[in-house]
Amino acid sequence: MSNRSLICGLAAPLMLAVSTAAALPGSGNFQVVQKANLNFTRDAAAIHFSDLARFNVTLNSTYAAAAVGVAARQSGGTPAIPLLWESEYVCPVTIGGQTVLLDFDTGSSDLWVISTLTGIEAVGHKVYDPKSSTSSKLLPGATWEITYADGSGSGGVVYKDHVAIGTSVAIDQAVEAALYVSPEFATNPFSSGLLGLAFSTLNTVSPVPQLTYFENVLPTLEKPLFTADLKHGRPGTYNFGYIDHTAYTGAIAWTPVTKPYDTGTTLLYLPPLITEAYYSKVIGAFFDPSYAAWLFPCTSPLPDFVFGIEGYRGVIPGEYMIFEPLGDDLCYGGIQVNTGLPFSIFGDILLKAQFVVFDHQGPRLGFANKL
Ligand SMILES: *[C@@H]1O[C@H](CO)[C@@H](O)[C@H](O)[C@H]1NC(C)=O
Ligand SMILES: *[C@@H]1O[C@H](CO)[C@@H](O)[C@H](O)[C@H]1NC(C)=O
Ligand SMILES: *[C@@H]1O[C@H](CO)[C@@H](O)[C@H](O)[C@H]1NC(C)=O
Repeated sequence: MSNRSLICGLAAPLMLAVSTAAALPGSGNFQVVQKANLNFTRDAAAIHFSDLARFNVTLNSTYAAAAVGVAARQSGGTPAIPLLWESEYVCPVTIGGQTVLLDFDTGSSDLWVISTLTGIEAVGHKVYDPKSSTSSKLLPGATWEITYADGSGSGGVVYKDHVAIGTSVAIDQAVEAALYVSPEFATNPFSSGLLGLAFSTLNTVSPVPQLTYFENVLPTLEKPLFTADLKHGRPGTYNFGYIDHTAYTGAIAWTPVTKPYDTGTTLLYLPPLITEAYYSKVIGAFFDPSYAAWLFPCTSPLPDFVFGIEGYRGVIPGEYMIFEPLGDDLCYGGIQVNTGLPFSIFGDILLKAQFVVFDHQGPRLGFANKL
């Protein structure tokens, strides 16, 4: 699920009443704090290969052999690296008075939820029941179907309903009720669906694409933006409508966005020379052909990684470069080679290291170093 990455949850008690005064600047501004799924597990090697598949990379023989090994380990049912290292984060979202936990995703634009209309895949999940919501209205003839970069997906029909997050409310929000979901969603009872935060040009509702939650509450926000202050290994925060100037240091560096927001991959993929230059500073680091990945002893000190956007210098703290402990005191590196790609990719690791502003005016992205 490497593309569904910026995910979050409310830690504060949910305030359902529209009249609840927001203590934040601007009438409709609100804050969302992430909540972690402590049972979350992931497989670093599988994420690596799913990222490469997403960009249709032709694997050289070293990578191809490692991919076969990773796939065999997975299909053999051997839990590869089931460590509680990084977590999954979700948000309570109230739909027609019913609260479910959803993943927030800046790479897509559908708000969909497992529902009473979903088949056997719904078992174990908290579901949305449009029939017991007094505010739900079926959107006649509307359907949706989404496939994420990792191959997971879902589809179904569409309702309009009241949706509330924190102190904010959208009274005519398109709620995409799932008729079916792929196994990735069926087997994760922690989450009931996704809430997309990218531009509605990516929304999959047919025949008429629908606005995202963010776009619906936009008129109530002081500024047309939200910020992500994500953390490595612990819950982070989203702020909607304002920039908390105490959350970062120095100036915000802005870069224009030409495509819908796509937060991309989990790892950082960089050219071989840069990757090798970084790991040459890490004692004991090596490229392991059996993973087709850079590994290093978990106890090795890790230098910070500094990247540039024009004059801006963004810092990724060295500790963020431990992507996953593999056992035997070896760690899977957060920077890997951009093999087969004509460009570099700044994944989640960079987003977690930076204070990031998603500004619909422009549109543009802002980066700042954290305190
Ligand atoms: C984690 O798994 C245990 C055992 O299956 C379960 O009892 C618990 O509720 C789960 N916790 C979360 C946060 O999903
Ligand atoms: C990868 O290939 C698939 C199928 O041929 C195509 O739909 C997709 O757009 C390609 N993705 C990229 C990033 O080139
Ligand atoms: C495949 O690519 C990786 C990364 O660029 C490199 O380290 C490895 O030697 C290559 N393998 C072959 C057989 O060329």
